[in-house]
Amino acid sequence: MHPDIERILFTAEQIAERTRALGRRIAEDLAAGCEKGAASGKQAAPPAQNAAAQGGAPASAPPLAVCILKGSVPFFADLIRAIPLPLETEYIALSSYGAGTASSGQVHIGKDIAADVAGRDVLIVEDIVDSGRTLAFLCGHLAARHPRSVRVVTLLDKPSRRAVPFTPDYVGFAVDDVFVVGCGMDYAERYRNLPYIGVLKPSVYGG
Ligand code: IMP
Ligand code: MG
Repeated sequence: MHPDIERILFTAEQIAERTRALGRRIAEDLAAGCEKGAASGKQAAPPAQNAAAQGGAPASAPPLAVCILKGSVPFFADLIRAIPLPLETEYIALSSYGAGTASSGQVHIGKDIAADVAGRDVLIVEDIVDSGRTLAFLCGHLAARHPRSVRVVTLLDKPSRRAVPFTPDYVGFAVDDVFVVGCGMDYAERYRNLPYIGVLKPSVYGG
């Protein structure tokens, strides 16, 4: 174990197993065409044919999996390979944290997605939901482009930390209010390559 890690919360094997299970569930829901995102009120989805009539992607366009850079990269790479359906991928860079461990409250778009989302099922893939601000912002941002549905899957969820109302559709693991790193998650850009998810020693960030 890395010397800056206080304890391991989830091993690489546990993460892999949970990711495969999430992939199976998401694939079933996408294949069934259920508008889970629409039902949970994440966007006002117009009928798919309207989106197509507006010049959007045809209703047959495959679902679009959106990876939030950089923290979601390892989870995204494993998850999309656990979804045995036609999929397209996109990458968006968002940030709400500076170099510290507390959210700044502001969400910035570094790099937006290029694909047309109109009329399509969108699956947003996140590493961890904390205050909820990043996902609430991104769901609103994408909803303005008239997707058919928007679903959010997050590897980790810290429900006790919500500052704005937000409920992900799929959660890998719920965790307490601790600062975690590994499997894509960082502190000041470090520890993303740890194969497990661990609690960072507070002494590392002066806590
Ligand atoms: P939110 O907007 O407050 O929900 O923050 C979401 C983002 O904050 C996540 O995508 C992570 O990048 C980052 N974040 C939140 N909690 C942690 C943590 O415990 N470790 C590492 N990054 C975190
Ligand atoms: Mg993130």
